Amino acid sequence: MASIYPKYQSDGSRLGGLMEWFDARFPLTSLWKAHLSEYYAPKNFNFWYFFGSIALVVLIIQVVSGIFLTMNYKPDGNLNAAGIPGAFAAVEYIMRDVWGGWFIRNMHSTGASAFFIVVYLHMFRGMLYGSYRKPRELIWIFGVLIFLCLMAEAFMGYLLPWGQMSYWGAQVILNLFSAIPVVGPDLSVFARGDFVVSDTTLNRFFAFHVIAVPLALIGLVVAHVLALHEVGSNNPDGVEIKKFKDEKGIPLDGVPFHPYYTIGHDLPAISIFMFFFFAVVFFWPEGGGYFLEANNFLPADPMKTPNHIAPVWYFTPFYSMLRAMVWNFFWIPAKLWGVIAMGGGVVILAFLPWLDRSPVKSIRYRGPIFKNLLTVFVIGFLILGYLGAQVPEYCFFDQAWLPGAVIAQIFTFYYFLFFLTMPYWSKIDKCKPVPERVTFK
Ligand code: HEM
Repeated sequence: MASIYPKYQSDGSRLGGLMEWFDARFPLTSLWKAHLSEYYAPKNFNFWYFFGSIALVVLIIQVVSGIFLTMNYKPDGNLNAAGIPGAFAAVEYIMRDVWGGWFIRNMHSTGASAFFIVVYLHMFRGMLYGSYRKPRELIWIFGVLIFLCLMAEAFMGYLLPWGQMSYWGAQVILNLFSAIPVVGPDLSVFARGDFVVSDTTLNRFFAFHVIAVPLALIGLVVAHVLALHEVGSNNPDGVEIKKFKDEKGIPLDGVPFHPYYTIGHDLPAISIFMFFFFAVVFFWPEGGGYFLEANNFLPADPMKTPNHIAPVWYFTPFYSMLRAMVWNFFWIPAKLWGVIAMGGGVVILAFLPWLDRSPVKSIRYRGPIFKNLLTVFVIGFLILGYLGAQVPEYCFFDQAWLPGAVIAQIFTFYYFLFFLTMPYWSKIDKCKPVPERVTFK
């Protein structure tokens, strides 16, 4: 039976023959065409469109450096002969004795922060240009699931060095399960596998971190890109290029993704990203205490709680939301409100395609209400992030007229208000006329 896929035509050379043989047995040419050389992307991409490809690069860095770390790491929460927990000693061994171990470990720890920087920018691009709107809802939903997996992956990975912050951070977050009514306390013990964070917890987190979550993550990234290539990319004008096609069915405002965007756009961006990434890996791996926290250079001690327990920077906006909920109301205790706010802060993103009712997609043509509310949203999110990293009593804002805790409550409230009132204000905003075709200079 003839293949349904377009096939490679050999030019008679040996390599051509090999390609033809391979292509007769695997749809290589058709995949290459569908996703690269004949995937027509809008010609007006700007720098915001770098971050998807950079996220792919960071994913590869994390997987490869993770494999090499696993060769020398042992998930062991028990004390060794020197009185140091095995897992902590294993990381020290990687840093000091394994050839190139410091490089691999720094790549992996810097990669974790880089992943979140890149993904936050990538998500923000989606908000700027309305990339989550019809017909791209599923791309966005896969994205939110990726974000959830990424958070789970980072949280579990952070326990593995078995430092003070690893231990107590996990203790705080796993205890939150107990706030869930009825099943909460049992769920908390079930998740830990013990009554406190212990060697058992470390072993199961290791299993999830090295195989279960990465598998889910990679599967979701494939689904994300397949969904994107099914409907086609959005662009900074938020207009559909598929509306205007030539006689061959090629969009008039589209260019083949390869070589235009691979060589001419993403590769230079990836090179610049790599420059900064390795500058951090070599010269600033602790990232001012934000990428690697000072307390995590101390081995986990279940008998000694650190004065100040804060998650790594990428979780702090959501941690602020957790801490902001200090009231018991509607028969729901404050702790449970905190968990609802923290989880809800992520889950609400999945509903964005249906909350936004604006007649236009891109910020270029949206009205002043969107621009102003989005600006406050970004500032509020950054402030929540800052406050979440501070000891509540000592934050910078206590010097001013409002204590940090109140500011966190205001911006938590604003965060949810922004989304929940969106169906209303996005509809009444005064938008500008949208051009029929993309604008490109
Ligand atoms: C591992 C993480 C991720 C990877 C590797 C990834 C990869 C990509 C790639 C390669 C693209 C096409 C290039 C581009 O438009 O920049 C893309 C597009 C997109 N991504 Fe992601 N992504 C990730 C996470 C996310 C998350 C967390 C969200 C949102 C919650 C998201 C939402 C989108 C949207 C809406 C598009 C379409 C953009 C448009 O056409 O304007 N992605 N992604």
